[in-house]
Amino acid sequence: MSVKLEGNILVTGTNRGIGLELVKQLAEKTAKEVHIYACCREPGGARAEALKELTSQYPGKIIVIKLDVADEDSISAAVQAVRQHIGTGGLNLLINNAAINKPAPPAPLMATAKKDMMEVYETNVVGPFILTKMILPLLQRAAERYSTDKENGDEMSCRRSAIINMSTLISSIEKCPETFSGAQMYPYRTSKAALNMLTRCQSEDFKINNILVTAIHPGWVRTEMGGEQAPLSTQDSVGAVLNVISSLSNKDSGMLLDLQGNRIPW
Ligand SMILES: NC(=O)c1ccc[n+]([C@@H]2O[C@H](COP(=O)([O-])OP(=O)(O)OC[C@H]3O[C@@H](n4cnc5c(N)ncnc54)[C@H](OP(=O)(O)O)[C@@H]3O)[C@@H](O)[C@H]2O)c1
Repeated sequence: MSVKLEGNILVTGTNRGIGLELVKQLAEKTAKEVHIYACCREPGGARAEALKELTSQYPGKIIVIKLDVADEDSISAAVQAVRQHIGTGGLNLLINNAAINKPAPPAPLMATAKKDMMEVYETNVVGPFILTKMILPLLQRAAERYSTDKENGDEMSCRRSAIINMSTLISSIEKCPETFSGAQMYPYRTSKAALNMLTRCQSEDFKINNILVTAIHPGWVRTEMGGEQAPLSTQDSVGAVLNVISSLSNKDSGMLLDLQGNRIPW
């Protein structure tokens, strides 16, 4: 089944887990003209073998870019590399997927140090903030071009220009009484709640540019982060994520959505 996404797409944290599956399904399900910028901390490392193998199946369609989202210089170099590849084009879709969860779950208060709080915030919030700030001109360019080509006025979509932030159900403050005992994870929860606020602020900020900004909960997924008990495979989670994001419109910007496209309360 194809997904209605176009142009240039960038995904962070793509050497494993949900990020790797996003690149795989985007490569399979989009037109051959689509370019996927698959970002990864260590493209030459042993942990990037699966991404390397996938890239070899789609030469020219998947472009691997070195990117550590916790390092501002690395973000700057990655944006420069993407800009060179794209030339005069724009970036249609940025998926902020890379994240960490420290210390290992359940991560109760007494097992959590300042270092954990700072590292998780830096990767999960500051990383997407800086990357989005640096890559904004490319997103703006895609949004402008789309309107010239298709006369779509102020319509927003992931085909035109969008930022998708990978959030989580356990970022929801309203749902905390239901979810807290199962997974305390102070650094992770608070970082994702901050990512939600970043989503909301940027959706307001970039409305004028017709750039959609939405946070999505990919479900509880069997990855290194999600663990073996998780009910969803990466394949099923990503299939549903792509379905939801391909049909987003203005009403979804600034929201946190589940895999059915329904709003999760803040
Ligand atoms: N799995 C779940 O159940 C679940 C549920 C809700 C939300 N999510 C969200 O979904 C997203 C993907 O989760 P996942 O389960 O696939 O996690 P994962 O298996 O732990 O994979 C995380 C990915 O992020 C990368 N990464 C971490 N720190 C990075 C950095 N500083 N720079 C660049 N890349 C970095 C990792 O690369 P390295 O190999 O280099 O570390 C890896 O590719 C995350 O945002 C997560 O919060 C997951």
